[in-house]
Amino acid sequence: MKLSSLLYFIGFGAKTFLLRKKDPILGTVIVTDRCNLHCKHCSVNNITAVVHPYVKVRAEMQQLYDMGVRILFFCGGETFLWQDGGKTLRDLVVEAKEMGFMIVNVVTNGTFPIDLPEADLILLSLDGDRERHNLIRGDTYDTIMKNVDEATADNICFYMAINQLNKGAIRSVCETAKAKKNVRAVSFNFHTPYPDTKDLALSVEEKEACCREIGQLMDEGCPVFNLKSAFPYLVHNTFPTPCYQCVVIEDGKVSVCGRCIDVPGLCEQCGYFFVAEYTLLFSGKPKIIFEVLKTYLKYV
Ligand SMILES: C[S@@+](CC[C@H](N)C(=O)[O-])C[C@H]1O[C@@H](n2cnc3c(N)ncnc32)[C@H](O)[C@@H]1O
Ligand code: SF4
Ligand code: SF4
Repeated sequence: MKLSSLLYFIGFGAKTFLLRKKDPILGTVIVTDRCNLHCKHCSVNNITAVVHPYVKVRAEMQQLYDMGVRILFFCGGETFLWQDGGKTLRDLVVEAKEMGFMIVNVVTNGTFPIDLPEADLILLSLDGDRERHNLIRGDTYDTIMKNVDEATADNICFYMAINQLNKGAIRSVCETAKAKKNVRAVSFNFHTPYPDTKDLALSVEEKEACCREIGQLMDEGCPVFNLKSAFPYLVHNTFPTPCYQCVVIEDGKVSVCGRCIDVPGLCEQCGYFFVAEYTLLFSGKPKIIFEVLKTYLKYV
């Protein structure tokens, strides 16, 4: 990360905490909800299956920038399915950088070839070893591994959503990350139980066991892009929600925190680590601030 970006984020954090501000810094553009997969735990794919046109996506990027967002994520659906009039996802990433976003990340299922060296991080969903990943995501593991090996940069971070089907595969994902030259880290989330996937939710005891294991892996030197000091809050869902510093825009609609904000009762069961990490950071918890600086300087 550039020193100027780091100083900007420190200034934003100080202002947010001291003046109790609710301005956003992290924004997500949903480029499409179309997806080539139908993962067992996912409730947001192929609801409209519309691939949003370039002019609309570009305007949404500008809208987020004008709101103060400087960390941009492209998400879906499957982001690599996005194209319009000869423009590809890579063009969006390049244009986002030119627009002034300081960090530009992409979230993908990894089933398409990965040639995106301009992205700061490519969060690539890997939900276990071959058996458990394929149980959740269909027969995709081998294709993903091939794409990871052939990627043109080492900016990949595995992204695992831990649920009832793959809670025993945390170590395997960490070991795969360590073994792959193009993979920088692993980032975790707990399953967020939308009404149609409630059966995949983890109990408090199960979340506690997962955090113990992730903590142990961190101590062993596994590259985990999460904050250990946020774990107790994640286990018991005691972090503040929603995260006012995060916004998402989909088809012209801006939502605070996530598009899941409209699902009644979901925030109290939120499993997204970024929400805990950001809300605790901006509430000024010293341990979290220290760990954020250490972790972000290492992986971004
Ligand atoms: C909705 S997907 C979109 C991007 C891309 N298709 C992918 O799979 O990475 C973004 C991330 O959300 C995760 N996800 C989906 N449903 C979830 C849920 N209910 N709880 C937690 N994470 C979830 C996915 O596993 C994936 O890592
Ligand atoms: S690949 Fe991503 S968007 Fe598609 S179904 Fe799976 S989690 Fe959902
Ligand atoms: S806090 Fe609520 S809106 Fe934010 S990600 Fe969690 S469930 Fe979604």
